[in-house]
Amino acid sequence: MKIDPWSSQQYKDYARLRDEFGIEEFDFNLPNAPPIFRRKVIFGHRGFQYVYDAIVHRENFAVLTGLMPSGKMHFGHKMTIEQVKYYQSLGADVNIAVADIEAYAARGLPIKTAEKIALEEYVPNYIALGLDPERTVVYFQSKRSAVKDVAWLLGKKVNLSEFLSIYGFGESTNMAHMISPLVQVGDILHVQFDEYGGRRPTVVPVGVDQDPHMRLTRDIVSRFRLFSISPQKEGTGVFYKGDDVENALKKARDYLENYGFSDFSFNIAYKALYVKDATNKDLIKLDKALIDCEHELHDFGFYPPAATYHRLMTGLTGGKMSSSKPDSAIFLTDSPQDAKKKMMRAKTGGRVTLEEQRKLGGEPEKCAVYEMFVYHLVDNDEYLKEIYETCKNGERVCGKCKKEAAELVSSFLEELAEKRNHAKDYVKMVVRKD
Ligand code: TRP
Ligand code: SF4
Repeated sequence: MKIDPWSSQQYKDYARLRDEFGIEEFDFNLPNAPPIFRRKVIFGHRGFQYVYDAIVHRENFAVLTGLMPSGKMHFGHKMTIEQVKYYQSLGADVNIAVADIEAYAARGLPIKTAEKIALEEYVPNYIALGLDPERTVVYFQSKRSAVKDVAWLLGKKVNLSEFLSIYGFGESTNMAHMISPLVQVGDILHVQFDEYGGRRPTVVPVGVDQDPHMRLTRDIVSRFRLFSISPQKEGTGVFYKGDDVENALKKARDYLENYGFSDFSFNIAYKALYVKDATNKDLIKLDKALIDCEHELHDFGFYPPAATYHRLMTGLTGGKMSSSKPDSAIFLTDSPQDAKKKMMRAKTGGRVTLEEQRKLGGEPEKCAVYEMFVYHLVDNDEYLKEIYETCKNGERVCGKCKKEAAELVSSFLEELAEKRNHAKDYVKMVVRKD
């Protein structure tokens, strides 16, 4: 199995996906978690521990994500913004990339068009969905040189054959497309530059189709590491790879002292520094000190960015929800009437005849309407359970059930349109020109 970020592949077995790619199950106990967290729509993560630690200790952390402005925003995109909004409520600073380089490279979308779509469609929706305009930054890949610098420089630690195998690129792949994953690495890491908030835990909420980019980013970060940590009988060992060992290890000791450690010994021949008063509980703290030190030593100290993965929404017509198939998605700018119609035409998990439905019950697991309830339309867990059970036992019938969903969607969209009208005044506040 291979994950291709640019295909319209849909995934069914998320547990298997986790096993196959070494994605960890997401089971953090987060305060006031919104429904998509409670309901395991966010099903996996890489490296979220650093972010969790920051949340628990009320320390700074960043959220960074990006969207291709290739068409209209639909409910699948809304899911990403819901997560961003939640992290914002926990104190994170919010950064959203308009992936205009990627959209141009992979889809041929002109940069000017991307800008127009972002300003008129995406950003007003972000604000209408509840992002706080005073604490949200939206920028363009093509306009931010720090992002492009990362792409040029950090590309040092990855080679062509890895790119060919990760992405299935071939000899005829255009070079802009070829470089676009490194631009995404730039999006993810540049927020840790001093001008953009400095080194701190960063969470990147994405659909699981983005996992190859996350693995690439995390691999590159780890290839730039100069220190590694491993428990030894002398104490927690900090090992250095690089020249000028003594100087580097002494620097590391200074940084570790600043983080409260005080009992050290050196073994220069082993390129090792032992921290005797560190325990297993201190691993994150040790690592933070060392990342800061690495930054002083060679400018490329980064916290490994965390990824969280949500399930991709099933289209209303089956398959993946996609902007390029208008009937598969309800767009945030659809009129309430159109949205209702789409809802009424959606693929359900209902049986062929009413009689059968009463007898066998429906199959909510296969139902695009039920998915809308779970992901977007029903906050109340009790009521959701009731929908599930009455579907299963045949009490609920699809016609009425779809109508209920249609009403919920249409009133949601009506309210959102209202909010979008007010949002226009804030677009300038949110969008950065560089
Ligand atoms: N590649 C993402 C997509 O296709 C968009 C994107 C660009 C992104 N930069 C990012 C996502 C950084 C997360 C983080 O939707
Ligand atoms: Fe889906 Fe509702 Fe039909 Fe059940 S009753 S299959 S949830 S539309």
